[in-house]
Amino acid sequence: MAARVLVFGRAGQVARALAERPGGMALSFAGRDTLDLTAPTADIAGLIARTGPDAVINAAAYTAVDRAESEPQICARLNRDAPLAMAEACAAADIPFAHFSTDYVFDGLKGSPYVESDARSPVNVYGRSKAEGEAALEALAAERGGRGAVIRTSWVFSARGPSFLQSMLRLARDREELGVVDDQHGRPTSADACAAAALALIRRLLDRDPAAPGLVHMAGADAMSWADFAETIFAASRARGGPSARVRRIATAEYPTPAVRPRDTRLDCSRMEAMVGWRPPPLSEALADCFGRMELA
Ligand SMILES: NC(=O)c1ccc[n+]([C@@H]2O[C@H](COP(=O)([O-])OP(=O)(O)OC[C@H]3O[C@@H](n4cnc5c(N)ncnc54)[C@H](OP(=O)(O)O)[C@@H]3O)[C@@H](O)[C@H]2O)c1
Repeated sequence: MAARVLVFGRAGQVARALAERPGGMALSFAGRDTLDLTAPTADIAGLIARTGPDAVINAAAYTAVDRAESEPQICARLNRDAPLAMAEACAAADIPFAHFSTDYVFDGLKGSPYVESDARSPVNVYGRSKAEGEAALEALAAERGGRGAVIRTSWVFSARGPSFLQSMLRLARDREELGVVDDQHGRPTSADACAAAALALIRRLLDRDPAAPGLVHMAGADAMSWADFAETIFAASRARGGPSARVRRIATAEYPTPAVRPRDTRLDCSRMEAMVGWRPPPLSEALADCFGRMELA
């Protein structure tokens, strides 16, 4: 019988990717309409107990990096307190739990790709909330054990977004040239890759594989700047007769935002690749897949 997996999140990028490609598992979804995870009364353990899943994936999060600067408490509830409550309930029921974190737990000053053991050093409210979430899950695992995976990922995009992909295509409909930041580097990652990674790790945990995943880095195959990412998007869009704009490469200082962004958060994903024997496809392929689905939508 297919494993029954409860997913927190429904309309988000990764939650939708899980719904579209459930990998042979029976997934059910709890969006904001089911349970508002920021409500002080949110009964996360109760929902998990009532649903009785074989495993839980948390694809819910507060992801509005700039808005987080003015809503630190709500952000912390979603990104630190809610995953801890989920992990506690899963540990009590002895079922696997997979959670997502972000490259923004780092300050971006290392100068080479980050590995899992690098110290967290967030520079904004969102990154701090996700770092505190990771630390809370690690403390729980040290105290009570449990079957958990934390997948740190980066620059997530999908066919329906909202993400950088949709922003670039929307802006290119009205403008011939766009200024895009060229001094922040990361690895654009498809929501499909995030979903596939979570399912692969849940499968290992269900099989009680002795090599516990713990914290793993999983990001797209290609490292680049936002300006490179924009150019790759426009090349793919142009090839399909879609909107495209000229990219003017600008410095972060020319595009001030409420939240400070880390400069270089390229993740080293070799641990995950060795563990599951799989790596995300090149960006061109992942984008082609997205464009194919956007044309179908
Ligand atoms: N987006 C990125 O660029 C990025 C980069 C690195 C890491 N990540 C991490 O990857 C994971 C998935 O991100 P994503 O891009 O899929 O996020 P997303 O598209 O912003 O979706 C957020 C999800 O959180 C749920 N949610 C938000 N507020 C909620 C609330 N008050 N109560 C209950 N649920 C709530 C939403 O529920 P509904 O379904 O009801 O709308 C939605 O499913 C997150 O942990 C994120 O931190 C994302």
